[in-house]
Amino acid sequence: MSTGTVSFTGAAQILRPPRDGLDQLRGADLAGQTLAPGGLTAVGGVIAALEPDPRAGLAVDAHGCAILPGFIDCHTHLPFAGWRAGEYEQKVGGVRYEEIARTGGGIASSARALRESSDEQVLVQSRGLAAEMLAAGTTTFECKSGYGLSREQELRSLRLAQALAAEVAQTTTSTALLAHSVPSGYTADTWMDEVERMLPEVLAPGGVSALDIFVESVAFSNAHLERMGALAAGAGLALRCHVEQFGGYRSVPVALAAGARSVDHLATLHPDDVEPLAQADCAAVLLPAAEFLGAEHRAPGRELLDAGAIVVLGTDANPGTAPVVSMPLVIGLAVRLYGMTTREALAAATLNAAWTLGMARTLGSIEVGKRADLVLLDAPAEHVAYRLGHNPVELAFIAGEPVYVRDERAAARIGLR
Ligand code: NIG
Ligand code: FE
Repeated sequence: MSTGTVSFTGAAQILRPPRDGLDQLRGADLAGQTLAPGGLTAVGGVIAALEPDPRAGLAVDAHGCAILPGFIDCHTHLPFAGWRAGEYEQKVGGVRYEEIARTGGGIASSARALRESSDEQVLVQSRGLAAEMLAAGTTTFECKSGYGLSREQELRSLRLAQALAAEVAQTTTSTALLAHSVPSGYTADTWMDEVERMLPEVLAPGGVSALDIFVESVAFSNAHLERMGALAAGAGLALRCHVEQFGGYRSVPVALAAGARSVDHLATLHPDDVEPLAQADCAAVLLPAAEFLGAEHRAPGRELLDAGAIVVLGTDANPGTAPVVSMPLVIGLAVRLYGMTTREALAAATLNAAWTLGMARTLGSIEVGKRADLVLLDAPAEHVAYRLGHNPVELAFIAGEPVYVRDERAAARIGLR
């Protein structure tokens, strides 16, 4: 058979949605996912059959493995420059995020680091992180700007995201987080005027698929969220937003009225906003690494699931609140912190994350016709959460090509030694 055919045999588990053609999983469909033994075949990078093909050019021995769709990390702040380990020590000592931000730390400090780094320095760090992500099974991830805090540096940040996209194995998307922190010399209002003026230039090169904003006492308000929503709608882009992370501002009704694709964080979500969010076609993106490391508040993950929301998980990879890039770790934290089942957490890290990025038609689940972005785990899927801190990924495939091979055992599975 042609070398473009790859066949997986003997898997102990293959994660499948309850039915084909679902763009996201919520409510009863989450428990309807199956983890049955079997095999599958990909031709030309696309899943062609849910059974092995003995004539395939590449035969993958998946005995003992779980096969999952590649993880989709729909909320990261790559590319960024440097780290902020000192802030973590402050946090552990009891200093709150808001105080750190007000005293020159936080986003402003990463903006300084970005300004002072060369393009190559930013790309070296970001490439390294993308490689770590791949080794932990992330086959698609979102990039955000947001550490620019000036027109010039925001444009640069989006250019760096495009440069990164060209260099890494993964598929990436770019979100313009144009309202992250109020740059010095501006008020929140005058910066939003600047955002509106710079938008044509931001969008001109193409590649940006969403706008984002941080609503917080140290950042922007619900009125600015409404304004960003109008800009996104006018530009035909998705609206994403960092809301209810520290203070509770009742931003979710505002985001829903603005037609947001996702509301991210939700650690201080008002109980009355759970139901409207659950009824909406808007993703509830939970970021348990940021909550665990910040130790200030916890999103009502179980309540959102029980109410039928589109629940999604992401790393929030950034130098401040979540210096974490591993989706298996995020899944493990989410299962424990929110009381999620393995199936709920896996859907949140794959198909629902694909939906958040507008990619659910081609990515995020194991279905005939979808791209063969797959991970093979060294254990049953339940071990992803259970063996917290262990990376279970032996092999990762993007469009049917092996892009990550962990060790000799993994190499032997694809016939390499
Ligand atoms: O998602 N909340 C806003 N943005 C980031 C943190 C930014 C930072 O502190 O660098 C987040 O947690
Ligand atoms: Fe974030």
